[in-house]
Amino acid sequence: MTGTRAHWGSRLGFILAAAGSAVGLGNIWKFPYITGENGGGWFVLIYLICIALVGLPIMMAEIFIGRTTQLAPVGAFRALSRRGSPWVLTGWLGVVVAFVVLSYYSVVAGWAMHYTWLSITNAFAAHDQAAINELFGNVYVSPTVNLGWHVAFMAITIAIVLGGVQKGLERWVRILMPALFVLMLVMLGRAVTMEGFGRAVEFTFAPNAENLTAAGVLEALGHAFFTLSLGMGAMITYGSYLRRDDDLVATSVTVGVLDTVIALMACLILFPITFTFGMQEERTVGLIFMNMPLAFSQMPGGALWGVLFFALLTFAALTSGISLLEVAASYFIDERGWTRRRAALTCGIAILLLGIPSALSGGTRLFGEQFQSLTSNLGVNDGAGFNWFDFFDYLASNWMLPLGGLFIALFVAWRVGGAAREAGFKTGTRFGGLYWGWIQLLRYVVPIAVILVFLNAIGLLGFLDGT
Ligand code: PFF
Repeated sequence: MTGTRAHWGSRLGFILAAAGSAVGLGNIWKFPYITGENGGGWFVLIYLICIALVGLPIMMAEIFIGRTTQLAPVGAFRALSRRGSPWVLTGWLGVVVAFVVLSYYSVVAGWAMHYTWLSITNAFAAHDQAAINELFGNVYVSPTVNLGWHVAFMAITIAIVLGGVQKGLERWVRILMPALFVLMLVMLGRAVTMEGFGRAVEFTFAPNAENLTAAGVLEALGHAFFTLSLGMGAMITYGSYLRRDDDLVATSVTVGVLDTVIALMACLILFPITFTFGMQEERTVGLIFMNMPLAFSQMPGGALWGVLFFALLTFAALTSGISLLEVAASYFIDERGWTRRRAALTCGIAILLLGIPSALSGGTRLFGEQFQSLTSNLGVNDGAGFNWFDFFDYLASNWMLPLGGLFIALFVAWRVGGAAREAGFKTGTRFGGLYWGWIQLLRYVVPIAVILVFLNAIGLLGFLDGT
């Protein structure tokens, strides 16, 4: 089996691909915003602990499953458990989540592409805050803009996945990831010279327990799943293209560190701009799509910085998007014997169609009525009605990914045979001594942490905040 399976051309190729999957809208858009919302400092520290104690062990578990079985999620769970075992459902859950997440992720990626285009055409120049807010408002509700860019993003994603492991995924992440990193460094270099930089560093790193709530702690944990692409088999799939003797531990740690560094860099790019131009630190979608263009419109050479920033966001989204499509396509390739071409095209087009309601979510409250009562019960309704986009995001990030992560941890910790597991973990790594700790984290820390997230999500931990 190993002989015919496609593999990464090099270990670096895998690391770049896995880091490419991890680094995305979650790092550059969401992390700074939730950091702002939770008051910085302590939140960042807790997030780092979650990455280390929950995220990394699950990432190792996923890569372990993929590398051991050399199969995509569904086949991988089947290969490691008995016939008809319910564990296989975890693999299925992953495939479903890939469809769900990519369908709305592509819409946000579409905004990033649209804003790259707006920057190229210098559309933000001489705009004041009201005009820029209105611009985003118009984009948000426009069916043509949303659908057009959604189709464009999916078309590029499909084209890359069609190329296969080495000629598609690896070739592109080799270009896009370093480009992203360099762009981030350049922007960071610019941010350092801004007068708001000192305040931004203080805000991000100085301990400030004031705004931190139990909900914030659990939000940090939930975000650890999303940002590391965990809980849906993306890392199982990418791990399945590793050779069996590739170093599991070093690669996982490298990917986790890269992801974290980029998230922190995003804060140190966004907050200085925010503080320098006198904006507040708490915000939502606006942080990027409203405040960044405003900053660019007031900066010398702003148009160029705008192009760089939004191109960077598009790159980050693209390398995550291809990993999502790869999870879906690899199921049909491995389990149904489809050609890569057929699988990538069919899954890609299905996701494109599934994303249409999300792309139309801003302009229409098509599904608002139906979801209204459901979502106000869940406490995620902004009062204006709940749309398809929000519903998918809520479902995937708050429920499906942590649930998948929990099952993956339990499976590896309690179900997979001990001797084979130990030998597998220790193959090809100098860090075999971490094995015992890894298992303990998967056995106890991960399940307890995830269950806390769930209890919080259904509101049972509200009393901790005094609510
Ligand atoms: N990790 C990506 C981000 O932070 O934007 C999102 C993501 C990609 C989640 C791939 C899950 C996944 F399988």
